[in-house]
Amino acid sequence: MNTRHQSHPDPGSDADPNPLQLIELQFRAAESRVLTAAVQLDVFTHIARGASTAATVAAAAAADPRAMRMLLDAAAVLGLLRKQGEAYALTPLSARYLAENSPDYLGEGLKLDRHWPGWTHLADAVRAGRPPRAGRPQGERFAAPALRGMYAQNRPAAERLGQALSPALPPSARVLDVACGSAVWSLALARAQPALRVTALDFPPVLELAREFIARENAAAQYEFLPGDMHAVALEPAAYDLILLANVAHSAGEAKLRQLLHRLAAALRPGGRLAIVDMIPDPERTGPLLPVIFALNLLLHTEQGDAYTLGQYRAWLEAAGFEPPATIEIGWASPALLARRR
Ligand SMILES: C[S@@+](CC[C@H](N)C(=O)[O-])C[C@H]1O[C@@H](n2cnc3c(N)ncnc32)[C@H](O)[C@@H]1O
Repeated sequence: MNTRHQSHPDPGSDADPNPLQLIELQFRAAESRVLTAAVQLDVFTHIARGASTAATVAAAAAADPRAMRMLLDAAAVLGLLRKQGEAYALTPLSARYLAENSPDYLGEGLKLDRHWPGWTHLADAVRAGRPPRAGRPQGERFAAPALRGMYAQNRPAAERLGQALSPALPPSARVLDVACGSAVWSLALARAQPALRVTALDFPPVLELAREFIARENAAAQYEFLPGDMHAVALEPAAYDLILLANVAHSAGEAKLRQLLHRLAAALRPGGRLAIVDMIPDPERTGPLLPVIFALNLLLHTEQGDAYTLGQYRAWLEAAGFEPPATIEIGWASPALLARRR
């Protein structure tokens, strides 16, 4: 099989709903564990290198063959492997993103398993309205493996956003990449426009890691660095043609985000644009699944974070001096928002 198996328990009727749906839902947590364990055991890398049976994958992973057969079967049910007879093979998805020999490997981030500890304390977090002490993320949150994971995960969408934004930018445009992480979003622009200059803003240790990603793409000459807290560091007024705010607007709460939007408006030249990439639930917050779940993930891991709707962004952008944002499909969980400074 090459697609994920769906078991679809009979839902029953409104008068007599089938409780099996709840049992299956309870076990969905196991699906996440299968992915994490298989990546932690380098199962996909071993198969890419030629191991194909449970016994040979187990030997390569220094694991138990019977237990490995169980794990590989579960990974196959989830569409991460194909099983034929006793042999397991990679699917296009696992070959590209989960085997270490692939340039798009994102297993490093998955191996860290950053989210799970917090989720076991969700009820406590909902009671308290803040992250549970026991589920606090570890210090490695934005260390090299996490950043490499985020780089791999974001690169395809960054490439699409870069293609959408580049044509309207002057050749020597100035770009501010706020909370740049690996600088994956600005690197897509730098690649497309060799005269474009980027200011990369993040905390000092993260910028040291960003330098490595930038050097790898021979883009160092296009970059300067602004170390500090995005809520406090001085920003050059009316200096930038484009500001990128990717995967960080959700982190600090509404009040600080609204202040930040004002600061970013002042850093843009008139007519300059702000691009926001984030998880955006629909107006009623009834979907899509990922942004709605992501909001809870923020409850578990930040003091004030939340996933904001397009309506909220529109109102806050307008108050900060922007025109209503356009949306750009980038093949990611939510479209990017692009707002022009008035
Ligand atoms: C989820 S990562 C996103 C990185 C990058 N923009 C991306 O999309 O791959 C969040 C980044 O925001 C940075 N960050 C969080 N709060 C910040 C703050 N107050 N000032 C500067 N950087 C911050 C973190 O260090 C981290 O690099």
